[in-house]
Amino acid sequence: MIDIQPIEDQALRDLAALSGAEALEAFRIRYLGKKGVLAEWMAKIPSLSPEERREFGAAVNRCKKKIEELFEERKKSLETQPAAPEHFDETLPCPEPLSGRFHPIRETIHEITGIFSRLGFSVVDGPEIETEFYNFSALNIPLDHASRDSFDTFYTAQGQLLRSQTSTVQVRLMQKQKPPLRMIAPGRVYRPDTVDASHSFMFHQIEGLMVDDRTTFSDLKGVLHLALRELFGPEIKIRFRPHFFPFTEPSVEVDLRWGSRGWLEILGAGVVNPKVFEAAGYDPSQCQGFAFGMGVERIAMLRHGIQDIRHFYENDIRFLKQF
Ligand code: DAH
Repeated sequence: MIDIQPIEDQALRDLAALSGAEALEAFRIRYLGKKGVLAEWMAKIPSLSPEERREFGAAVNRCKKKIEELFEERKKSLETQPAAPEHFDETLPCPEPLSGRFHPIRETIHEITGIFSRLGFSVVDGPEIETEFYNFSALNIPLDHASRDSFDTFYTAQGQLLRSQTSTVQVRLMQKQKPPLRMIAPGRVYRPDTVDASHSFMFHQIEGLMVDDRTTFSDLKGVLHLALRELFGPEIKIRFRPHFFPFTEPSVEVDLRWGSRGWLEILGAGVVNPKVFEAAGYDPSQCQGFAFGMGVERIAMLRHGIQDIRHFYENDIRFLKQF
């Protein structure tokens, strides 16, 4: 025979602990429902012997009455009890609002254009779809130069091209503006490179150009030194290494000392070639200046310790959230 007592005790404890209409209903179904504990016991009665039937039947009835009574009581007391006031603490900090932020490439461009703006350079823009004239000829790049090859430049069916360097903006600006001028031109450039950890078919450059009647190579050194120290910190060491570019003469590449990795090339620069002034309609005997061009991704990767250029273009929020 079933021992009613422990289950009855459990039911009374459950009843005392429960609160809320849902818990009340769950209790009713569990003990008093059609398939509840008490209904189950009642169903067993007919199969018992007459003596057992009397004894067990009486116990079940008494238990049922008791649970029903206490259930009604509990139900009433819960219904009349006022709901607990919701606790509100206005001194707790509110959840941090979601906010957007600049892409690391945009942020790097901002920082660099900011440095040059403070040196009196204005920020100018140029088209990404260009002519051979602005991308090559005006920059003294000969017709047979390798960079003109379709392996190195994207051409359109109409004979235009996607600019492969921001140097295009040099002659575009000089055609519109007489010296003295100081400009900085950030933007996208395109090259048919196979994409890997350090190459992309699209990347960003920042071009710089300063022209008047007295600017020299030493001004170039001074301006770049100052800008790179602003960007990478006062401890930074840089070196000017002779190089060749058709649009500057003399030309240099500038390297940054990067800890154990040695010298890293970060930009090209030089004294503007008189041929470029000619192409722009300037009188080369009346003006002189310097130009430089740097890769934005390269600088952003160095500053933030980013190992793979592809991170910039994949829109992975886990990467972008870190800046
Ligand atoms: N246009 C060059 C490149 O894409 C970079 C460059 C070098 C720009 C020297 C300049 C310069 O203005 O004077 O590799």
